[in-house]
Amino acid sequence: MTTIDPTIKARVRELRQELHRHNVLYHALDRPEISDAEYDRMFQELIALEARYPELFDPNSPTQRVGAAPLSEFESAPHSLPMVSLDNAFDEAEILAFDRRVREALGKEADALRYTAEPKMDGVAVELIYQNGRLTKALTRGDGTMGEVVTANVRTIGCIPLVLMQDHDADVDIPQILEVRGEVFLNKADFEALNRNRSASGQPLFANPRNAAAGSLRQLDPRITAERPLSFFVYGIGLWSDLSIDSHGDVLFQLHRWGFPINPRTLAKVPLEDVLTGYRHLHDERPRLPYDIDGMVVKVDSLRLQEKLGMKARSPKWAIAWKFPAETATTRIRHIDVQVGRTGVLTPVAHLEPVHVGGVTVSRATLHNMEEIERKDIRIGDLVDIERAGDVIPKVIGVRTQARTGSETPFEMPAVCPSCGSTVIRGELGDREEVAYRCINAQCPAQLKEHIKHCTAKTAWDIEGIGDKLADQLVEQGLVQSIADIWTLQVEQLRKLERMGDLSARKLIDAIAAKKRMPLKRFLFGLGIRHIGETVAATLADRFGSIDALSNAPADAIRSIPGIGDTIADSVAAFFKRPENRRLIQQILDAGVEIVEQRPPSSSDRLPLSGKTVVITGTLPGMSRSEAKQRIEAAGGRLSETVTKSTHVVVVGEKPGSKLAQAKRLGIEVMDPEGFFSLLDRMAGINDQANG
Ligand code: IVH
Repeated sequence: MTTIDPTIKARVRELRQELHRHNVLYHALDRPEISDAEYDRMFQELIALEARYPELFDPNSPTQRVGAAPLSEFESAPHSLPMVSLDNAFDEAEILAFDRRVREALGKEADALRYTAEPKMDGVAVELIYQNGRLTKALTRGDGTMGEVVTANVRTIGCIPLVLMQDHDADVDIPQILEVRGEVFLNKADFEALNRNRSASGQPLFANPRNAAAGSLRQLDPRITAERPLSFFVYGIGLWSDLSIDSHGDVLFQLHRWGFPINPRTLAKVPLEDVLTGYRHLHDERPRLPYDIDGMVVKVDSLRLQEKLGMKARSPKWAIAWKFPAETATTRIRHIDVQVGRTGVLTPVAHLEPVHVGGVTVSRATLHNMEEIERKDIRIGDLVDIERAGDVIPKVIGVRTQARTGSETPFEMPAVCPSCGSTVIRGELGDREEVAYRCINAQCPAQLKEHIKHCTAKTAWDIEGIGDKLADQLVEQGLVQSIADIWTLQVEQLRKLERMGDLSARKLIDAIAAKKRMPLKRFLFGLGIRHIGETVAATLADRFGSIDALSNAPADAIRSIPGIGDTIADSVAAFFKRPENRRLIQQILDAGVEIVEQRPPSSSDRLPLSGKTVVITGTLPGMSRSEAKQRIEAAGGRLSETVTKSTHVVVVGEKPGSKLAQAKRLGIEVMDPEGFFSLLDRMAGINDQANG
């Protein structure tokens, strides 16, 4: 390699730095210092230099936003801290109740309670990882634990800083590792323009800006992403080890100074009253905003209080999404039929005269259950108001009784299951589903069909190729009588099915065989145990490690897991108590299904502290106790106050106490803070980035 003249290198460095700075000034801070023409001139100069000296290539150069080479598929990677979702509130009363819950939990400390509220962007959540101020990785939310690596695509988004701007005034240094979270979205006008282009070139249209943003972000060819004018607002952080900031609003301001766009309609550190009026303003402003929002996210501002409030299974107790009221329309019910769900619950569904609501045509609405129909006095032939909120199935909110002609007929639950003909009972199901009518025939084909759809889903057993139609056929032809039979299907059996050639039958059998190894959490989720969603399945898999251990666990052991309540614990224990369920699992295992007992890369088993109990004595330089706790938990471990025989390691900080002596007495491993920090840094994912 020829050596490059140092003045050239310096010029390239200077151009990159300046272009990054002007980019931030333009996009994030909205105060450009130079004209577009000047920017272009520098940009062209840099392009020319990089073309002449390819050795100087840098993936984070401002010139690299045009898009890298296409991929064949996205890799997955773990989030170092899970990306959780939010509870919803639909009216002011629910926000007041949220505020009350927060205050009760905080006690005296609620005196200083402030909120930060941001518009809830209707886009796609991403996590951006910066190492020493440079973008190294970008992930989609995925299932919250693992996301897809979309780094090349994210680099094309003009307002996302590739290199953070040094902040000379503030005393916060750019951290070694910074994970920021936010929403990628498309402005309404850009969405319209994109669809106009697509229509002109005969391509299918996107239904709304959010779908267009998601489709653009998940493009295997980053050059296509580069052509879509995606935008970004930051709304939070993942891993970030800084102690000097204790306010979510201040975190946003700091991120803004480093070059991230924050939503200008953010209300930072305000009392509840301002949240209430702010929401009304935002709602009024909504139609005039350049982008889609679907509500306001209200967050307890103090990070310390956030931590004190803690989490539920899948959402924080310190934040809530205050959704805007749904869009409504009026139409007529043509008829009502009944769907049989996976657990046998009968759900009445209204078939409607098609009507336009919020950009989509709706022809069906769920009626939930009989009680709801009676309460609202919904009859076949009625003129009804329906509403659609976000992506959920539309529902009937009320009947226009004045418009009745007398020809409307009341709906009655069928006395027998529309699928199998067995008697329908009004189920004593406990908790929420008390009013449910159920088909309790364990062999009911409709239930089995739904069960097959559930267990073959990507987040469960991940058997691609068994879609809705095939699931129906497999049941109707008697090829699958329980979900265990999926694993023993034969080519000869499939060949007999409609639209199933030799080749596709063989392909499907191969696809099934290829999926026989799966992590415990997905296996569990696929079993369809009541109340066991994806998150809970993952928690149980983490805790128990094997199907054996879980199936023999008493309800009390399950109950003791943080985030798992009585309903779940009882349901799991009851499931495994039943002999037919144990037989089902045995059958699946006999068919050759292999449960991988530790999770893949994201695995807490592979996390440096998984299953370990850590005690800290003394103070750690540069790390608060609460952060240490958070980091230890993120690394799979548990922070404990006392040294006992079952302590795995004692971290000895400055001015250690008697715990050190106790550790020595018990012969427990001790570690200095440096060793401890480097252990934490070995966390899956971060490690990958550092090496890659
Ligand atoms: S905060 C623990 N803030 O809403 C906090 N989320 O239902 C987690 N979203 O997946 C999220 N705007 O994609 C937060 N200002 C905002 C948001 C926001 C949009 C999305 C986000 C998340 C979903 C949560």
